[in-house]
Amino acid sequence: MTSPNVRWHVLPQGEAIAEAVAEHILRAARRAISAHGGFRLVLAGGTTPESAYRRLAEMSADWSRWSIYYGDERCVPPGDESRNSVMADRAWLDHVPIPRAHIHTVPAEHGPTRGAEEYGATVRNALPFDFVLLGMGEDGHTASLFPGQEHDDDEPVVPVYDAPKPPPERVSVNTSALNQSREVHIMVTGAGKRDAVRRWKAGEDLPVGRVHGQCGVDVWLDPEALDASAK
Ligand code: 6PG
Repeated sequence: MTSPNVRWHVLPQGEAIAEAVAEHILRAARRAISAHGGFRLVLAGGTTPESAYRRLAEMSADWSRWSIYYGDERCVPPGDESRNSVMADRAWLDHVPIPRAHIHTVPAEHGPTRGAEEYGATVRNALPFDFVLLGMGEDGHTASLFPGQEHDDDEPVVPVYDAPKPPPERVSVNTSALNQSREVHIMVTGAGKRDAVRRWKAGEDLPVGRVHGQCGVDVWLDPEALDASAK
């Protein structure tokens, strides 16, 4: 079922969405650091969030209090161009003084089974997150949680062996752990996502629709991602 507290934000194009998401992340960081001395942020992979990461690289924050986690990672060697962590480093993390010891990359190079076990220990020690940023695939997947692939809710991090989006082997934070976050924000842009957004809004049980934080979920869309009839 779709979370009852979904806030749909439609902004004119990617840069406006990137700016809004970056501002929300900074605001959440100030609140978390004030409340408990640190900020635990989960990053999205794929291409959509890159613009928000580039915007964050231009902003000021109490970076030494930030801790970074990844919602998922592809099982490819460290430094591989297709890694979500390589994209985030290049766009943002290489340009701000977040202590490297606070950046918790997924040991996905160890393969799905061992990678999930190892990252599961990391995530268990991090919960609850303060802010989870996600994207959505054209089939309604989020992180590496794909339609039709069920996982043990008791596991905070799960192995993925046959992802329909290459590469097939991945490590993903599970819905149950993602939902232990104060905020969840999801960035969805482009006409290719239109059908999944329509199905999500219609209440179809998609992986993206299962994720929501304590404060619900904020979805950031451009007009292209909306069905013409819904604009
Ligand atoms: C991944 C991502 C994945 C991504 C969506 C959207 O590793 O591929 O975690 O969940 O967020 O597939 O990807 P785009 O942003 O490239 O459309």
